[in-house]
Amino acid sequence: MILVTGGAGYIGSHTCVELIQAGYEVVIVDNLCNSKYEAVRRIEKITGVLPKFYEVDILDKEGLTKVFQENKIDAVIHFAGLKAVGESVRLPMKYYHNNITGTLVLCEVMAQFGCKKIVFSSSATVYGDPAFIPITEECPKGQCTNPYGWTKSMIEQILTDFNTADPEWDVILLRYFNPVGAHESGLLGEDPNGIPNNLMPYIQRVAIGKLDHLNVFGDDYDTPDGTGVRDYIHVVDLAIGHVHAVKKVMEPVGVKIYNLGTGKGSSVLDIVKAYSKACGHDIPYVVAPRRAGDIATNYADPTKAYEELGWKAVRGIDKMCEDSWHFMQMNPNGLE
Ligand code: NAD
Ligand code: UD1
Repeated sequence: MILVTGGAGYIGSHTCVELIQAGYEVVIVDNLCNSKYEAVRRIEKITGVLPKFYEVDILDKEGLTKVFQENKIDAVIHFAGLKAVGESVRLPMKYYHNNITGTLVLCEVMAQFGCKKIVFSSSATVYGDPAFIPITEECPKGQCTNPYGWTKSMIEQILTDFNTADPEWDVILLRYFNPVGAHESGLLGEDPNGIPNNLMPYIQRVAIGKLDHLNVFGDDYDTPDGTGVRDYIHVVDLAIGHVHAVKKVMEPVGVKIYNLGTGKGSSVLDIVKAYSKACGHDIPYVVAPRRAGDIATNYADPTKAYEELGWKAVRGIDKMCEDSWHFMQMNPNGLE
C-alpha cells in the first residue's frame, strides 16, 4: 500500500490515478489547504476506485500515527507542501515550517512504523542558475532565489542524511521540470487559487476569457525568440514517472536522484502558439519586463530516468495544451 501525501493536489491526484491503474492500493493524506476533496471523487470517476482519504495535516503527528496504525504502508510518495514562490518570499516561516517540519514529522512517524521508503517531490529549482544545459543530475546544486526553492534543496539534504545515518532509508528525489497539462478525461487538472503566477495556468485563464492578456516576461533573453525557455512536462507523464519510481524504491536503492523532464525546451511564445492552436483562437499578449529571479533557459537531460527507471515522457506541448484546454472547458470554475 502506498501513502500519497498531498494526493488531492495537482500532481498527487494524477499520480493516484496512475498508481491505481497500475494495481497499487493508495491512501491519501491531505489537509486540503490547496486542493478540494472533489479531486478524490474525480480519481474514483476515472479509475472506478475511491482511494482511502484522511484529511490530516502532515504536521499532526497523532493524525499521521493513526494513518499508519490503520494501514500497512509500504512506501510514501511525498507531495504535500506549499509551492507558491512569491508567497514563500513574504512568508518564509510558513514555508519552512510546513515543508520542512512537515517532512520531519512524516519521516519520524514512518520510521516508528518501520517504513523507510520515500519518493520526494523536488524541483529543478535546486539547480539555481544551472551550471550547464541540458541539466543532468551531475549538475551541482545552486543558489535558490526564494525560500520555497530552499525548502526543496534542504529536504533533499535531510533525506540524504537519514540514509547516511541509517541505510535502511531508501530515498528517491525526483526533480521535476515544469509540470503542465491535465488528465485526458478533463476530470483532473490544475486549479490554482487567485491570479496564477505560472505560465500555463495564466494562459488557460486568458484562453477562457477570465484574464485579458498574457504578460510575456522579457523578450530579450539569449534564446531563439528572446523569451524564456523551459522544459514543460505533461502531468500524466510525470505521474507515470512516479509509478516507476515507487517500484524502484522497493529495492535497496540508497539515495537516487532523477530529473523528470522531456529534454526539450520550449519558449513562452512556443507555448502561446500551441495553446492558440488548441483553443482555436489567438492568445493576446504583451511584452513586459523580465520577472526577477527568472533564468533564460532551463531544460533537462532525462537520460538517467530512462536508463534506470525505464521511463520517459512521451507527450508533447500540443497535447499538454489540448488537455489543459479540455480541462478548462469542462471546469471553468475549477473542481467544484
Ligand atoms: P498542489 O498544491 O496542487 O499539491 C500539494 C498538496 O499538498 C495540496 O493538495 C495541499 O493541500 C497539500 N498540503 C500542503 N501542505 C500540507 C500539509 N501540511 N499537510 C497535508 N497536506 C498538505 O501542488 P502540486 O503542483 O501538485 O505539487 C506537488 C508537489 O510537487 C509539491 O511538493 C511541489 O512543491 C512539488 N513541485 C511542484 C511543481 C509544479 O510546478 N507544480 C514543480 C516542482 C515541484
Ligand atoms: C516557477 C518557479 C519555480 C517552480 C516552478 C513550478 C519562479 C522564479 N520559479 O518556474 O521555482 O519550481 O515555477 O512550476 O517563480 N512567464 C511569462 N508570463 C507569465 C508567467 C510566466 O512570460 O505570466 C514566463 C516566465 O518568465 C518563464 C516561463 O514563462 O520564462 C515559465 O514560467 P513559470 O511557469 O512561472 O515557471 P518557472 O519560472 O520556470
